[in-house]
Amino acid sequence: MKNKILNTLKDADGFVSGEELSKILGVSRTAVWKHISKLKQEGYELESVTRKGYRLLHSPDLLTAEELAYGLNTEKIGQKILCFDEIDSTNLEVKRQALDDEKHGLVVVAEEQTKGRGRKGRQWVSPKGTGIWMSLMLKPDLSPSSAPMLTLVAGLAVCEAIQGQTGLEAQIKWPNDIVVQKKKICGILTEMNGEIDHLNYIVLGIGVNVNVEGFPKELEDIATSLKIASGKEVSRVQLLQKILERLEHYYRIFERDGDLQNLIEGYKSHCITYNKEVKVLGPLETMEGIVVDITDQGELILETEEGTKKVVSGEVSVRGMYGYV
Ligand code: BTN
Repeated sequence: MKNKILNTLKDADGFVSGEELSKILGVSRTAVWKHISKLKQEGYELESVTRKGYRLLHSPDLLTAEELAYGLNTEKIGQKILCFDEIDSTNLEVKRQALDDEKHGLVVVAEEQTKGRGRKGRQWVSPKGTGIWMSLMLKPDLSPSSAPMLTLVAGLAVCEAIQGQTGLEAQIKWPNDIVVQKKKICGILTEMNGEIDHLNYIVLGIGVNVNVEGFPKELEDIATSLKIASGKEVSRVQLLQKILERLEHYYRIFERDGDLQNLIEGYKSHCITYNKEVKVLGPLETMEGIVVDITDQGELILETEEGTKKVVSGEVSVRGMYGYV
């Protein structure tokens, strides 16, 4: 009921009278008043004027299922959104939900993660109410070998969403760190569940430092937030919706093609690693060279002193970034 009132006020261009609200919703005016008070307690700014009714002035930037669903323009991704005040890790929650055979497109969001996880077993700092900490369950009709490409698809979607929402220039450090003003603003952790020849589902975990005000000393030089970079608060609700919308768009193209053939040029145009001197910390060796291409499968083509090499995975540092000079 509270959500119906909220959506009616959001849709209205101005005041809605208590009488109208009680008619539309089929409840008494006292009930309307009670729900309005509840909304105010939750942080919604509502103006009430005698003989005019109620008007919504401002919604709090809360990651609730209702706020995220309102105006979300997707068909599958985010049609079910689970929101938590606090959770260990949204990636872990998607895996738990998978046990109940949840559908493709499920999104899990948390205001705070107590055990946020980064790549290579690192911790991901996820303070309360300041970021987008979310994970998606994806069930592509593709082979397990395609899974790493999805990481690039997500990087592209997040990069464009950030740019569109904030006007900041966002870049991608291959495969999927999003960088603003040469510092990391977003990390993506892609995990897979399946057998050698069959993919059950993918967990796509996305962490964006949106309104984080500061970082621990050891991260200060390499991490930033959209608020620090732009000097302004950024709406997490709107950014999250935009990420889901871009992701659905690119995901469709990727699933249809089975590779990045129609996405790679867009990816390269944002990629800070492309055409740059890099150092790759691979599982077996460290290589240095210039990235001369990125293939339709998302691999780096590296021109080194020993010849051309293909990089499928590894930790890449770009000269001039994150302290690599
Ligand atoms: C990285 O190391 O760059 C990846 C960081 C991924 C963090 C996100 S936050 C939401 C999701 N839940 C997690 O525990 N990790 C990912």
